[in-house]
Amino acid sequence: MAQKLGQTTAPDLFSPFKMANFNLSHRVVLAPMTRCRALNGIPGPALAEYYSQRSTPGGFLITEGTSISPSGPGFPHVPGIYTEEQVNAWKKVVDAVHAKGSIIFCQLWHVGRASHQVYQPAGAAPISSTSVPISKRWRILLPGGSHGIYPKPRALETSEILGVVQDYRQAAINAIKAGFDGIEIHGAHGYLIDQFLKDGINDRTDEYGGSLANRCKFIVEIVKAVAGAIGADRVGVRISPAIDHMDATDSDPLGLGLAVVERLNKLQLEFGAKLAYLHVTQPRYVAYGQTESGKHGSEEEEAHLMRTLRKAYQGTFICSGGYTRELGMEAVAQGDADLVSYGRLFISNPDLVLRFKKNAPLNKYVRATFYTQDPVVGYTDYPFLGEESKGNQALSRL
Ligand SMILES: Cc1cc2nc3c(=O)[nH]c(=O)nc-3n(C[C@H](O)[C@H](O)[C@H](O)COP(=O)(O)O)c2cc1C
Repeated sequence: MAQKLGQTTAPDLFSPFKMANFNLSHRVVLAPMTRCRALNGIPGPALAEYYSQRSTPGGFLITEGTSISPSGPGFPHVPGIYTEEQVNAWKKVVDAVHAKGSIIFCQLWHVGRASHQVYQPAGAAPISSTSVPISKRWRILLPGGSHGIYPKPRALETSEILGVVQDYRQAAINAIKAGFDGIEIHGAHGYLIDQFLKDGINDRTDEYGGSLANRCKFIVEIVKAVAGAIGADRVGVRISPAIDHMDATDSDPLGLGLAVVERLNKLQLEFGAKLAYLHVTQPRYVAYGQTESGKHGSEEEEAHLMRTLRKAYQGTFICSGGYTRELGMEAVAQGDADLVSYGRLFISNPDLVLRFKKNAPLNKYVRATFYTQDPVVGYTDYPFLGEESKGNQALSRL
C-alpha cells in the first residue's frame, strides 16, 4: 500500500503488491485463456511471442489451461505439460517472459467430461465424476472448426481418482522444471474439478460425492499433493462457484465457495505457509456483451458472493470477469481484491497495462479468432499503442 507522510492512500491497479514471494509492480494480471495455438500440444515460438508481448517488469501472467495428462484436452491444439518435449518447449516461452521481467504461472487443466473421443487417447470416452453428458445446450469445438455434441463420459472408479491427483502433482513438478514460477489449479468453469465440486453434476455415491465435504475432497487432495511437491507459495487455485458454464450448477454457490475457502484456509495452517492466491471468476461476462453461460445473478448478488469469499479467504485474492479499467481500480481501492485478472481486453491489447496507465483507448477484440490456429492473426497481430496503422485489419476501436 502506498504511503505518504504517514497517511495511507488507497491502492489502485498500479500500486505494487507482494504475492507470496513475488514482488509485483502492478495488479493487472493476464487471465488464463485457451488460444489453441500450441500445435499438437507443443507450445512453440508463437506462444513465446504472445506471452512476451503481454509481459511487463513485475507483471503477473497466468498461462492458458494446460493439460496435465493425455486425457486432459477438450479443445484443438491446447498445450500439455506431461511430456519431456512439452516441458522443453515451455522453457523457451518462460524464458521469453522472464527476460521481460514478468512472473508466470502455468494453469493446470483437465477438462473432464468437456471433451470428445477425438481428443482422447485411443478414442476413449472422456472421464468425469459422472457418466451424465453435458446437455445439448452446449457444443464442443472440434478440430477443423465445426461444433459437436458432448459425448457420454465415463465416471471415474474411486480407485482411479488418486491416479488423477498424481497427474496434477507430476504436472506441477514438470511446470517448475520448465522454469514456471508456480502453477494455478483450474478448479473453475465446469471442467473436471468443478465436475466434482458442483451438486448439479456430481452424482457419486462414494466418498467423493454427496456431502459438501465429499465433493471438496478431490480439490483438497490435489492442492495437498501439488503444494507438497512444489511448495504452497507456488500454488494458486481458481474456482467459479457461481458460474454454470457447461451445466456446472450448484444449489448453493456461496455455501460451496465458502466450503472451498474454509478448506484452503485450513490447508494453509497445516502447511504453515500461504498459497500464492485464490482466483475467483465472477459471472459478469455481460459487461462485454456476452455472458459465458447466459445466466447470472443480479449485480448485488454477485458482488456479495465475491466480497464474502474475499473476506473469508486468508490470503491474496484475485477477481476476474467483466472488469474494465474503472471496475478494476474500484475493486482494488475498496479492498474487494488484491489483483484483477483481465481476459478479453488482454487478448486485443498486448500493452494493456500501459494503456490502462495512460487511460488510452483500447483495441476491440475479435471473437472469431479466439480459438483459431493461425500463429499470428488474431493472436500476436493486435497493435501496440501508436502502431494501430500496422495492425490487425479486422480491428475497430472500443
Ligand atoms: C478465449 C478465452 C479463453 C479462455 N480460456 C480459459 C482457460 O483456459 N482457463 C480459465 O481458467 N479461464 C479461461 N477463460 C476465462 C478468462 O480467464 C476470464 O476469466 C474471462 O474471460 C473473464 O474475464 P474478462 O471479462 O476480462 O474477459 C477464457 C476466456 C476467453 C475469452
